[in-house]
Amino acid sequence: MKRHLTVILSLGFLMAGGVCTAWANDDELPFWAYPDTPTQAPSPKDDGQMRTLPGSSKQFSLAELRNFFSPPDWYPEDHPPMPPLVAHGAQPKAYACGYCHLPTGMGRPENAPIAGLPAKYIIKQVHEMKSGARKSALPQHYPQALMWELAEQAATDPGLEEAAAYFAAIKPEQFMKVVETDTIPKVEVTHWIYKKVEAGGTEPLGNRLIELTDDFARFGKRDGRITYTVYVPPGSLAKGKALVDTGGGKTTACATCHGADLKGMGLVPPIAGRSPSYIARQLHDFRVGVRGGDYSELMKPVVANLTNGDFIAITGYLASLAP
Ligand code: HEC
Ligand code: HEC
Repeated sequence: MKRHLTVILSLGFLMAGGVCTAWANDDELPFWAYPDTPTQAPSPKDDGQMRTLPGSSKQFSLAELRNFFSPPDWYPEDHPPMPPLVAHGAQPKAYACGYCHLPTGMGRPENAPIAGLPAKYIIKQVHEMKSGARKSALPQHYPQALMWELAEQAATDPGLEEAAAYFAAIKPEQFMKVVETDTIPKVEVTHWIYKKVEAGGTEPLGNRLIELTDDFARFGKRDGRITYTVYVPPGSLAKGKALVDTGGGKTTACATCHGADLKGMGLVPPIAGRSPSYIARQLHDFRVGVRGGDYSELMKPVVANLTNGDFIAITGYLASLAP
């Protein structure tokens, strides 16, 4: 009954907030980390116009911006030369890593930041996706579906080791600021990402974390220099810091395994300054047990007693730290 009531309440809230997600009936899921629309507006056709960005001498057409096997590289000076798998992938199914994760590996909220992850960890994860040891709680969610599909081929691609070494060598930069607030700019969902509604207005944040690109037009061009604002409810940062630093009687201090500065230790990945939407999806995947693999056993007790409110606090606080 209680669960039933929460579902009704959260549905009502979602409608009031103007956000419609296909996952609204699962009160366990941090639904805000999986923005989706039941029907996706078709992408516009290539109009032949060349797109530009400030500070870049490059130009790309819409078709070029959407090329899974040769993604736009607006700022080649921002990263070392890309190995073939990162720049061009491998036919037929291993799409270029640089398409979704961007040439710098900074990633986007709908996928994952992979710059600065240990190379062996990257390889291990791709293999665990292929073997099925690592799954997603929402395998049908399009960005996740594509990653698992390409892992099938990428796991055995001879270029994977080189691609992993490439991303591991890039030092990630801080690209988010975190704001505590009750009210946020009115948002809509388009292509698995939140977008500020052009007409303006505000909406209640409620019990959500919203990771919002500061410039949707640049986001759409796959710009690797954009920034994000992360909105969390008031009090989240202090609550998150307490849980992360001490466990707050509910979990284990994260630094025990993720390193004193939370920037990773051995094969344990960094968690500071990475997309909070991505981090929340992982916490949920560990909690429901779909993210398996030998190392995941260490994370299961960590998340066992954490609620979605705790996820908002923890991921918001982690997002406020430098990577
Ligand atoms: C079509 C988009 C897309 C492409 C192309 C892509 N990925 Fe991903 N990748 C994703 C998504 C989405 C996730 C997040 C999965 C999740 O939410 O659990 C992800 C996650 C990952 C992770 C897990 C990160 C972590 O911290 O555990 C690794 C490693 C990774 N990708 C490596 C690669 C490599 C290597 C390539 C190129 C061979 C690649 N990806 C190409 C979409 C993509
Ligand atoms: C007992 C050791 C341990 C503790 C304590 C721990 N972790 Fe982890 N964590 C791990 C290991 C090991 C992995 C890698 C799992 C794998 O390879 O699948 C991991 C992975 C993660 C990931 C996935 C990152 C990615 O790139 O996909 C997140 C998120 C995470 N931990 C968050 C936390 C948070 C938040 C805390 C503190 C509340 C915490 N962990 C405490 C051991 C730990």
